[in-house]
Amino acid sequence: MVDNTNLTAKVELRNYFLDNWDYEQPIRIMEAFTGQSRKIYKRAYKDKGLDVTSLDLKGGDGVIKTDNRAFIRDHANDFNFFDFDDYGAPYEQVITLFHNRTSNEPFVLVITDGVARYIGYGHPTKLVSYACRVPLKMKVWGLSSFWNEITQMIYTKITKRYNFKITKAKIITGGNTGKMYYYGFCIERDRS
Ligand SMILES: C[S@@+](CC[C@H](N)C(=O)[O-])C[C@H]1O[C@@H](n2cnc3c(N)ncnc32)[C@H](O)[C@@H]1O
Repeated sequence: MVDNTNLTAKVELRNYFLDNWDYEQPIRIMEAFTGQSRKIYKRAYKDKGLDVTSLDLKGGDGVIKTDNRAFIRDHANDFNFFDFDDYGAPYEQVITLFHNRTSNEPFVLVITDGVARYIGYGHPTKLVSYACRVPLKMKVWGLSSFWNEITQMIYTKITKRYNFKITKAKIITGGNTGKMYYYGFCIERDRS
């Protein structure tokens, strides 16, 4: 499932977090799914003089050729802005990031999420099953209509599990995004 249908939404989402950056540290971006045409990089990052590390399995000009799962594991503390523009849903990368991040520095995480498309036939994915306590094989018609609520449950559960909290969120969906969800969070250490 290739999703380049809503580049405008993706760029708007990134610009929102870049324009509202109010942390002390300068922005250090890990762009984990750069792609060969580097559309997001060109539209959202390139001309802003930002510190961007771009990764892709296929490599490319200015791109580190690597499996981002290993890179995230080894560099989870080296960045404060994570860009996960996968085709479907980068949950392995999300879990790897939270699992390996020991730094207390706040960070931004932006994600392209196509799971609402996958669950259109009522089958929960592993993460939905885990977060909502729905058996993996159970058919739940209409599941995709609850994607907002499900996403909130998933990230509430993950952040709590790793002692973080979400302090700001922005979700772009609907319109012509075709059940794709583009969302981002500001995430801070939960000291409560
Ligand atoms: C949706 S495309 C990215 C589009 C891109 N962000 C853009 O702005 O044009 C997904 C890309 O992620 C890469 N990719 C998929 N799995 C990966 C992994 N585990 N590590 C690194 N790159 C990966 C693919 O090679 C593909 O180029």
